[in-house]
Amino acid sequence: MVSGAGSNMAALLEASTDPAYGAAVVAVGADREGTEGIARAERAGFATFVTPFSKFADRAEWNAELAERIGAYEPDLVVSAGFMRLLGPEVLNRYTVINIHPALLPAFPGAHAVRDALAYGVKITGATVHIVDEGVDTGPVIDQVAVRVEPGDDVASLHARIKTVEREMLVDVVGRLAREGWTLRDRDVRLGSGPA
Ligand code: GRF
Repeated sequence: MVSGAGSNMAALLEASTDPAYGAAVVAVGADREGTEGIARAERAGFATFVTPFSKFADRAEWNAELAERIGAYEPDLVVSAGFMRLLGPEVLNRYTVINIHPALLPAFPGAHAVRDALAYGVKITGATVHIVDEGVDTGPVIDQVAVRVEPGDDVASLHARIKTVEREMLVDVVGRLAREGWTLRDRDVRLGSGPA
């Protein structure tokens, strides 16, 4: 699932062309029309769908429709890769969803993680892959990579370096989830067994 440029999603598309990777992308979805992410997926020949948030009366209706659209592809895993909407129980009770976030959670949750980390003045930030629950970036952490804040960094330069490590980590986590599962502190995540 994407809302924007889709560089993390594109890394997954590329990885999944190798059968040894263990996971295959069945479709790419978006919450609004006209995203570069959907255009990229179409160019690469993948199935796409758009469930525009703006066309629904409320969040629950949108989530219910999204769950149906996702369900058409029967995925074992839903990846929120730059997907900027909160998912509700309609989706989360039906699928295991993971998210990539550009900070070391629980520090700097929310939509402005890179800006907030810079404003705070931390010297190390990074990226997190976590299970999505109903909170804002609150679900159990699967993996994290640190990124040093360099003197002179602005939001664009720091986010670009974080995105480089995000892509690598997301590809690694999805492949490992598919091939061998992942043991978190209090649960085993196994694909194909319903929500984590
Ligand atoms: C990533 O930094 C992701 O962590 C954040 O939004 C950005 C999406 O980038 N939630 P892209 O669409 O994958 O290029």
